[in-house]
Amino acid sequence: MKEPERLTPQQFELFQKFIYDRCGIKIDLSKITLVSNRIRRRLQPSNCADFATYYRFITSKLGAIELVEFIDAITTNETSFFRTQSNFEWFKNVYIGELLRDKADARREPNLRVWSAACSSGEEPYSIAMCLAEASVPLRGWTIQILGTDISESSLKLARDAVYRKRTMQEMDDAKVRRYFSEDRSGEFQLRPTIKQMVKFKHHNLMKPLGEAPFDCIWLRNVLIYFDRESKAKVIENLVRSLVCGGYLVVGPSEGVYDMLGMLQKRGTFLYQKQ
Ligand SMILES: C[S@@+](CC[C@H](N)C(=O)[O-])C[C@H]1O[C@@H](n2cnc3c(N)ncnc32)[C@H](O)[C@@H]1O
Repeated sequence: MKEPERLTPQQFELFQKFIYDRCGIKIDLSKITLVSNRIRRRLQPSNCADFATYYRFITSKLGAIELVEFIDAITTNETSFFRTQSNFEWFKNVYIGELLRDKADARREPNLRVWSAACSSGEEPYSIAMCLAEASVPLRGWTIQILGTDISESSLKLARDAVYRKRTMQEMDDAKVRRYFSEDRSGEFQLRPTIKQMVKFKHHNLMKPLGEAPFDCIWLRNVLIYFDRESKAKVIENLVRSLVCGGYLVVGPSEGVYDMLGMLQKRGTFLYQKQ
């Protein structure tokens, strides 16, 4: 069976609309080759002879399982531990101190809820957990909950397995790597249970409300780059609703939402607070 070369512009438009409706990601026509390549890889495993058959399949009830694979194939899941160090320096050196002061002044209970929205394979929420583990003495007695969510099931599986390659740890020195991982003979690094058990993972599409109790701190980084303005606004509305009053939103450098955050107080280049 000869594989099709590339989506026609009409087929691209169908997939583009489908991806947009599902994930909020608006893929430009200039990415037609990339999208064609990613979909082509799914044709054989799903027994589809061509793009048109594949489209009919994933948009039908029977294609529900393949739809998960399709979304995995389309999304970009690049991430690493302590990506954009300055965000983690703020969290560790400023935010935790603020939490402790507020608790000492009886302005808050010893509870903390952090949400890594679009956590990919888990490096972001686990880096947050490491910052909190390093403050475990002053935070003794606190109830800490860290949630990682993503639309990609395969990324969430990697996050739950918590086995990593060294290349995702470039921002960590050797002592830190040894503290938090055990290396096996194949050169893979297993995250130690003390950190692993601090984070829970859940499948979630940011275009929808999360439906959980609000969070003290939400991380939204390196995810909205391919979203159009309407979708970005929807995501921001959902996230701001999930933030407690006084809570912080940590925003990535490429989100392109700075002009949509007027309802929050700007506290730094990447940091916004709900009043
Ligand atoms: C590049 S990774 C960013 C990971 C991490 N936040 C970081 O900054 O390193 C982007 C993630 O966004 C996820 N994503 C894309 N669209 C999404 C949506 N509508 N809802 C939830 N997650 C989404 C992708 O599956 C991917 O894992």
